[in-house]
Amino acid sequence: MNLILLGPPGAGKGTQAKLISSNFNVPHISTGDIFRANISQNTELGIRAKQYMDKGLLVPDEVTIDIVKDRLTKDDCKNGFLLDGFPRTVKQAEALDEFLNDNGSVIDASILIDVPKENIFERMTGRRVCSKCGASYHIKFNPPKVEGKCDLCGSEVVQRKDDSEETVKERLDVYDKQTQPLVEYYKSKKVLKPVDGAQDINKVFEDIKESLGEKNVK
Ligand code: AP5
Ligand code: MG
Repeated sequence: MNLILLGPPGAGKGTQAKLISSNFNVPHISTGDIFRANISQNTELGIRAKQYMDKGLLVPDEVTIDIVKDRLTKDDCKNGFLLDGFPRTVKQAEALDEFLNDNGSVIDASILIDVPKENIFERMTGRRVCSKCGASYHIKFNPPKVEGKCDLCGSEVVQRKDDSEETVKERLDVYDKQTQPLVEYYKSKKVLKPVDGAQDINKVFEDIKESLGEKNVK
């Protein structure tokens, strides 16, 4: 299964990706997580990406596309993958299709997690992420079992730098202008699977599984 998770910032892509990845046994590839890992290791890529991310802008296509192509050639992607936060522009989507086509493959489903804008601010300002493994929590909707500590690895959970109100506004604006056109793109390819992301986390996951026709793909 070659899957894409589409949706605005804070829609729950990362949260659902963890569940989908373990249920369908496909690697979870998040471009945002790749950039954040590079930022924390202070690599050349991290330094470059940070300039854009801190402002809520997209990292340039030529940087992002190469990273994803490289990641998709790894062994663990042989039986499928789950892309979270990529593609985010039509240029990225076309480059991905071209890469898959060259490898005799296609996108099986592009899952759109639909969430009204009014829910997004509360989700993002309340989000906390593990400083080590990147697991995502919410102080109200999905709190860690022990306050301030990651359930999975026990490390400190922190607020993401780009979750400030000002940056969230910019990210939503960027989504509308640059990423929203991908909804039409995947609809026209007949692989778009819209899911109501305003429900609780488990219900969203149930709907995603149903949209993928779980019985047929396991
Ligand atoms: P990225 O890390 O991809 O951020 P994003 O798309 O803005 O999305 P988020 O990670 O903020 O939200 P999410 O949908 O994963 O939601 P989550 O599950 O955490 O990208 C960051 C930056 O990197 C970009 O701005 C850009 O600069 C750069 N970048 C990345 N990819 C790029 C690309 N392809 N091209 C160019 N630049 C790129 O959930 C949010 C919160 O809500 C959490 O607290 C969670 O617990 C809670 N929650 C989740 N689901 C529910 C629910 N159903 N009900 C209640 N609460 C919920
Ligand atoms: Mg995310």
